[in-house]
Amino acid sequence: MGKKYENSTLISTELAAAISDQIGHELQASHQYTAIAVYFESLALKKLAKMFFKQGDEEREHAMKFVHYLSETGGKLQIPIIPAPKHDFTSVIEAVQASLDWEWEVTRRINDLMTLAVEQKDYLAQDFLRWFVTEQLEEVSTMENLLKVAQTAGDKNIIMLEAYLSHD
Ligand SMILES: [Fe+2]
Ligand SMILES: [Fe+2]
Repeated sequence: MGKKYENSTLISTELAAAISDQIGHELQASHQYTAIAVYFESLALKKLAKMFFKQGDEEREHAMKFVHYLSETGGKLQIPIIPAPKHDFTSVIEAVQASLDWEWEVTRRINDLMTLAVEQKDYLAQDFLRWFVTEQLEEVSTMENLLKVAQTAGDKNIIMLEAYLSHD
């Protein structure tokens, strides 16, 4: 018979709480990207809209990865209240800039989770969080490139962004 562990959880209360908070941020990102996609659709920018609906789906997948991790490690899931996303934008550039700012914020939060996992010598969590660390590189660089092209095109020629996205 294997050894019985007194403590049946593989995660600290503190890290579980921090991950629950992160689930809120991922869901908030999902809602925000969905709202931005609808804004792009209102401008008939179909490729941009499609890209942001997909981003919204991906953020929900991120949230679910965290949910399953808590479930598997026995951590307590406490999904927080999700603040409403911003629905009104004055330009495409503003919406893309907001998305990039958001990705930087998420990157900082993921790094904070990793710092906590390192401090707690939680090797399992470090392994799990590594995927998110790498994912953020892609997320930030995708938004940075999109913003560069949007700024080069300018709001008057923003239709060029649709052509840019066709080459992906
Ligand atoms: Fe995410
Ligand atoms: Fe993201």
